[in-house]
Amino acid sequence: MKRAVVFSSKLGSVKVIADRIAEATGADKFDLADGAPDVSGYDWIHLGSGIYMGNPPKEVQDFVAANRDKIDRMSLFVACTLCGTRGDGMTRTLAKRFGIADAMYYDKPESQVNVPESKLEEYISGLV
Ligand SMILES: Cc1cc2nc3c(=O)[nH]c(=O)nc-3n(C[C@H](O)[C@H](O)[C@H](O)COP(=O)(O)O)c2cc1C
Repeated sequence: MKRAVVFSSKLGSVKVIADRIAEATGADKFDLADGAPDVSGYDWIHLGSGIYMGNPPKEVQDFVAANRDKIDRMSLFVACTLCGTRGDGMTRTLAKRFGIADAMYYDKPESQVNVPESKLEEYISGLV
């Protein structure tokens, strides 16, 4: 199965998760800040995003619009600070909007770049 991690990270937290997933799974990695990648030929995309003013960045929305129908399997991971206990619901809503069944949310109340290690390990162990 050919995988890619595709992500947008303005402040660095999503990148921490993206790096770990790519390392654990051997997936290729594409930062949407470098432009929209050509992901034809990939079977599984791990899509990562932060939430800014209630929404993922435009490059994430554009990537999904352009590729969701072409990719067999897409998973979503989200990092946001202000969602608090509403983070899981917010992530599920976003996943539904994107047509993605598998979604994970990282709450980071303390720091802009602080991804809980135990949750990250558990998530990654479910992907490999
Ligand atoms: C300008 C700005 C707006 C934000 N808006 C939201 C928001 O509406 N909801 C939320 O939960 N987090 C919000 N955040 C927090 C980010 O989603 C959070 O820091 C996330 O981890 C960013 O991912 P990144 O570090 O990969 O960029 C905002 C952060 C910034 C800088």
